[in-house]
Amino acid sequence: MQNPSSTQPDTPALIPVWDRFVRLFHWGLVATILIAGTTGFILDASWINFHVWSGATAAALLITRIIWGFSGGTYARFSSFVMGPRAILSYFNALRNGTDKRHIGHNPLGGAMVLALIATILGITATGTFLLGGVLKTGPLAALVPYAVGDIFGELHEVLAILLLVLITAHVGGVVFESRRHKENLAQAMITGEKRRSAEDVIAPKRNAQTVLAVVAAALTLGSGGLVLAMLTRTIPANMPVAQINPLVAEECSDCHMAYHPSLLPAKDWELIVNTLEDHFGEDASLDEETTTEIRDWLMANAAETADTRPAHVFKLAPKANGLPGSITDTPFWQERHEELLEDKTIFERKGIRSKSNCVACHKDAEAGLFSPFQINIPKE
Ligand code: HEC
Ligand code: HEC
Repeated sequence: MQNPSSTQPDTPALIPVWDRFVRLFHWGLVATILIAGTTGFILDASWINFHVWSGATAAALLITRIIWGFSGGTYARFSSFVMGPRAILSYFNALRNGTDKRHIGHNPLGGAMVLALIATILGITATGTFLLGGVLKTGPLAALVPYAVGDIFGELHEVLAILLLVLITAHVGGVVFESRRHKENLAQAMITGEKRRSAEDVIAPKRNAQTVLAVVAAALTLGSGGLVLAMLTRTIPANMPVAQINPLVAEECSDCHMAYHPSLLPAKDWELIVNTLEDHFGEDASLDEETTTEIRDWLMANAAETADTRPAHVFKLAPKANGLPGSITDTPFWQERHEELLEDKTIFERKGIRSKSNCVACHKDAEAGLFSPFQINIPKE
């Protein structure tokens, strides 16, 4: 605080605006969204752990912030900055005429932005949880959400993530704009918590922070929510592929490559593959009739139709012109997912990999037919 009789009489008084929790929340959210955005938009799927945990941390931060919005001090309270559409519009008009007043907390447009950001990020974490459960059979919703539903939520997850990028751009734009107009550094104020105060500023009515109440409410909400999610996470999803490979298939179909899990392909693809073993991708892999029949029956009985995993839904062989089966690695999904790896020709020549079809080199759970992104590990050589 400035003393009026100090040597710098022109320096306006600084007053505390953003409390410690609001600042910690703000920069914590920036960090988690930066990690979630980078791992989601830029890095490959093997970063899924960072992606999911940064998203979960963002959700926990938001829930705590919402509680603080009802229990914190003056400028942390939603009541100090959440305005109706009419107030927002009239602020916007005043802004255009240059007759608006400086708000020491969030101005009405900034308040609307805070709400939009909170809602969008919560939406992203919710749709992400459905995607994680339905498509990747992981997390609290694994046993509750079918693949098809998870897939739709996956689309929504992406749309909301793009919307968030737009909102963040507008938010940063708004901060720069306001900082220039009022000749202050708003980003810095979010670090120090203090702002210069002048006589015409709009200030909010003083509210006392109910810190104990907030801590108890946050602990109860996060604790009970976390417990429910942890319990749900332990439930075992239905329609998972059978774990064990039939011994006959394991023996006869693993000489030249790993024994592919039956849930990777639909029954009619297995039928075609087993019926054409004498011309099997350029090799003669034919077997006696009895063995062929047993292998075919087992593969068809445990084919993709019996499982609800991602691989069971995405691979379908396109027969080639000569009527022989195409390969998994030629399917559009495989090509798209491995596009970046394929660009670097040396990857598939590494000793630990050797072939595109050697799925198990990079997918630790390939033999079980799961191909979870949590289980990807590319051999360095
Ligand atoms: C050189 C290592 C490597 C090999 C070999 C490989 N993959 Fe992958 N696979 C990856 C990587 C890395 C990703 C993640 C790509 C991304 O960012 O989406 C991936 C992603 C996938 C996914 C999507 C996982 C998900 O849910 O996000 C499936 C399914 C898959 N691979 C199947 C296969 C199959 C089937 C084979 C064998 C025919 C195979 N892969 C061989 C490295 C490999
Ligand atoms: C004599 C060696 C040999 C045997 C035995 C063999 N395969 Fe293959 N298989 C191949 C080759 C070679 C490919 C082509 C791999 C490639 O594209 O890199 C292939 C590819 C496949 C593919 C497509 C995978 C991909 O990469 O897209 C499937 C599915 C498959 N085999 C199933 C079977 C089954 C089922 C059996 C047992 C009945 C079997 N294979 C036995 C040599 C063999």
